[in-house]
Amino acid sequence: MDRHLISRIAHRDHPIAAPLSDESVRRLLDRALRGGTAERVLDLGCGEGAWLLRALAAHPQLRAVGVDLDAHALNLARQGAERLGVARRIGLHHVDAKEFAAKEEFDAVLCVGATHAFGGLLPTLAAVRPHLAPGGLALVGEGYWQAEPDRAALDIFGDGLADLHATVDHALADGWTPVYGHTSTQEELDDYEWSWTGSLADWALDHAAEPSGGEALRIAAEHRAEWLGGYRPFFGFVTLVLRRTA
Ligand SMILES: C[S@@+](CC[C@H](N)C(=O)[O-])C[C@H]1O[C@@H](n2cnc3c(N)ncnc32)[C@H](O)[C@@H]1O
Repeated sequence: MDRHLISRIAHRDHPIAAPLSDESVRRLLDRALRGGTAERVLDLGCGEGAWLLRALAAHPQLRAVGVDLDAHALNLARQGAERLGVARRIGLHHVDAKEFAAKEEFDAVLCVGATHAFGGLLPTLAAVRPHLAPGGLALVGEGYWQAEPDRAALDIFGDGLADLHATVDHALADGWTPVYGHTSTQEELDDYEWSWTGSLADWALDHAAEPSGGEALRIAAEHRAEWLGGYRPFFGFVTLVLRRTA
């Protein structure tokens, strides 16, 4: 199965494609958009545009740009924008976020659950920086270790993650100041994983007679086993709102 399709099915019943509740997304957006006074927002790895559509619906003066490699997800974002009556205020680009060249600067740049596109937190911040207007805010969601990871967790997530303190220190040393942040609760982390594995398994049972149904059920089961039997005690997720220090 195409990995974009797997991701789309697995995320269909969750507010966004990262372990954050509706209320956390609302609060983080409010901070990143400075209570709605921001005028331009960019989302690198926007997927179906969940963050941008919420932002546009809440703030009539806002214009948004989204970038993603998944053409189908961008189509869904466009349809969502039309349904909400905000399509005139969104631009969607089917391009690698690493190569996206904007003609303007943004008051807020988002990258949540897509830092792997750049190779981790610091390369993501380096990519965000040229897009930010003076005084602009970056909203970046990234994994971290809640406890010393074992070999199996490292095999799944690689050795690019750090603990929460070190993650924030890396951003500080790179010239960023956290002006807000949210560490996903265990409830948010669990809800995300139950939703991911559950939605995929549910779809698989509806397609049990097709080869893709069997494949989806196997992928959901493997993911659930890796989570419950492996990385659940170690993996955390933090969303930082960052401003350039100088
Ligand atoms: C886990 S989803 C997160 C989507 C969205 N930020 C959210 O929070 O709902 C990661 C997204 O990053 C996109 N992506 C991965 N690599 C990318 C790249 N090099 N350029 C643009 N988008 C990329 C994927 O297609 C996917 O839509």
